[in-house]
Amino acid sequence: MYCVKQMREDLYWVGGTDRRLALFENMYPIPRGVSYNSYLVMDEQTVLLDTVDRAVSDIFIENIEHVLGGRELNYLIVNHMEPDHCAVIGELALRHPELKIVGNAKTLTMIRQFYDFEVDSRAVTVKEGDTLSTGRHTFTFVMAPMVHWPEVMVTYDATDKILYSADAFGTFGAMSGNLYADEVNFDRDWMDDARRYYTNIVGKYGPQVQMLLKKAAGLDISMICPLHGPIWRTDIAKFIEKYDRWSSYRPEETAVLIAYGSVYGHTENAANILAARLADLGIQNIAMYDASATHPSVILSEAFRCSHLVFASSTYNNGIFTAMETLLTDLKAHNLQNRKYALIQNGSWAPASGKLMGEMIASFKGFEQIGETVTLKSSVKDEQRQALNALADQIAASVQETQAV
Ligand code: FEO
Repeated sequence: MYCVKQMREDLYWVGGTDRRLALFENMYPIPRGVSYNSYLVMDEQTVLLDTVDRAVSDIFIENIEHVLGGRELNYLIVNHMEPDHCAVIGELALRHPELKIVGNAKTLTMIRQFYDFEVDSRAVTVKEGDTLSTGRHTFTFVMAPMVHWPEVMVTYDATDKILYSADAFGTFGAMSGNLYADEVNFDRDWMDDARRYYTNIVGKYGPQVQMLLKKAAGLDISMICPLHGPIWRTDIAKFIEKYDRWSSYRPEETAVLIAYGSVYGHTENAANILAARLADLGIQNIAMYDASATHPSVILSEAFRCSHLVFASSTYNNGIFTAMETLLTDLKAHNLQNRKYALIQNGSWAPASGKLMGEMIASFKGFEQIGETVTLKSSVKDEQRQALNALADQIAASVQETQAV
């Protein structure tokens, strides 16, 4: 049975929610599920904005056919060709011979790559600033390459001042009836997922997001309709500010993150001693993660949030402990920049992880080490306790300096 949400007299959410999928992109755990948003505009000519993932295709088709009520589907605007949004294009083409497919040249190339149906006779190719009038509504197309794939564009409905923003401004998490960000406690229940979604999915492409934000600044926006998660109609500027911060690689908060990779607990012990001293020095809300126990996507998201990062790792196979190496590789891949960091290494006979972590981090833009790398040889002794306390003093001083700016 259909499950649609009417948003305006002629605008409907026709997407779906998925709480069965364990790993988004077969990579990111999504314990709160995910939503695939799609929007149907019942203008003089009907317009669908994007489709959904195959997982919710049945309900999606029911939703569309219910809202259409026997009318033709005239246009499908394809803002993004990743399969979590494009999986039902082929079926729609079969069901609606009249359907025109609107996309840019790269979109249409990707449709041909993913599908075998004849595209050219249906294609409406658009470029930056082109418009499509469908009766009451006029849609303007704004290119947003690499937010998150090269073909991505966003669509602005100048009539109702709505930005259909593709992956931008989306979040993990399945919606629970409430469609709008102002109907939920977004800061409490959604912000962590929004940050984890942004940083992991789009985080690498900060400059491209900055370009999109500049274009969006020129639009009068009353509502943002992303492809995942709640829709924004209030506090839009506040969420845009988050995006500005994340995409310019500025920390969201002056805060300390400690991530450790520990085989038998001695490196973890060093991390705890450091954290305890930091707390004694007045540092609050210290975030600590065992890289073996926490998915790297969570720690990466936290690293985008925090200003000061501590990496503590055992030496393993003469290298960095595997979970820590994965985390650092992930931070590099997502282009994290402009952080203060400190290192702790451990090795019972040949400690090497500190030097190797330092070499990896040397390629991170704007990273600045605090203090010397603290070295453990098996377990924390008095000498290491003193070194950890001294490192904590330096980190705390840096935190206080940052807070004062
Ligand atoms: Fe939600 Fe880049 O797809």
